[in-house]
Amino acid sequence: MQGTAIARPNIALIKYWGKRDVALNLPAVGSISITLRELHTRMQVVFDRMLETDALTVNDVPDEKMLPRLSACLDLVAGVDRPGARITSQCNFPIAAGLASSASSFAALTVAAAHAAGKSLTTAELAGLAGRASGSAARSLLGGFVELVNTDDGISVDTLCDAADWPLTVVVAVTETGPKPVSSTEAMEISRKTSPFYSTWVEQQPADLDAARAAIEDRDFQALAHAAEHNCLKMHSIMWASRPPTVYWNAATIRCLETIRSLQARDLGVFFTIDAGPQVKAVCVPGDAAEVEAALRATPGVEGTMVSALGPGAGLEPDA
Ligand code: PMV
Repeated sequence: MQGTAIARPNIALIKYWGKRDVALNLPAVGSISITLRELHTRMQVVFDRMLETDALTVNDVPDEKMLPRLSACLDLVAGVDRPGARITSQCNFPIAAGLASSASSFAALTVAAAHAAGKSLTTAELAGLAGRASGSAARSLLGGFVELVNTDDGISVDTLCDAADWPLTVVVAVTETGPKPVSSTEAMEISRKTSPFYSTWVEQQPADLDAARAAIEDRDFQALAHAAEHNCLKMHSIMWASRPPTVYWNAATIRCLETIRSLQARDLGVFFTIDAGPQVKAVCVPGDAAEVEAALRATPGVEGTMVSALGPGAGLEPDA
């Protein structure tokens, strides 16, 4: 009655923003992401009939705040009449700061819980379950370049290209380590209900997905850079134009964009993307990553950097 799994965060290049069904947590648009290798969340789930309630520790500290979302995910995977669960999460990067810790956490939790419950599920079934907890989590089930596709009754995930088939490096410039002021779920709903640009965003997403898919197929870094930067800025402009506005950026976020623009002017292979937080993710051609990392680290307001190659999808670990 136990299972342990590791999953890694993913960074969306063509973003998921907005829900078509809030109760089922279904995205309004498809998305394309890359899974990272060096950052990870390790989740252990132990079902125990002796436990009256679930218990969670995150990096060895009891955590009551996150527990209800994790318990709800376990109910979906193992059924509401399941035993109580002891959940142990170890995460090697900052949580809830726009680094997709929810994606790696819920992908790992879904895989670990299915194993603990003795269920052998397909990737599509796991994606449906992980996606109910966190829209982006379904993408962390797979490695490399991953597309999340909206289907008639849910979602599915596919690998577009394995990590080894187009090696890229991601440099994360951390500009703030505190939790974000507005959750992505809340901000998405404000965008959907109030932003004058929201319907255009949904309408244009298939074209952005096509452009990114073709760029990945051709291994065309410049084409991917154009598609990803455009899609990222479009997503943030929806939020800025909503009422109330959501602005996840800080001054250092913008300085990082200036740094990346100056590296691009020197023909380095790099582009940026930014999610629901102030961190800047620079996607680089591996040979240029050291220079990109040094330039971002030296950018005023950057508290630190993390460097990662692209990596594999979620997987079970031997039980401890
Ligand atoms: O999966 P959520 O609810 O944390 O939303 C993710 C939203 C973005 O990170 C901004 C975009 C994405 O596709 O990951």
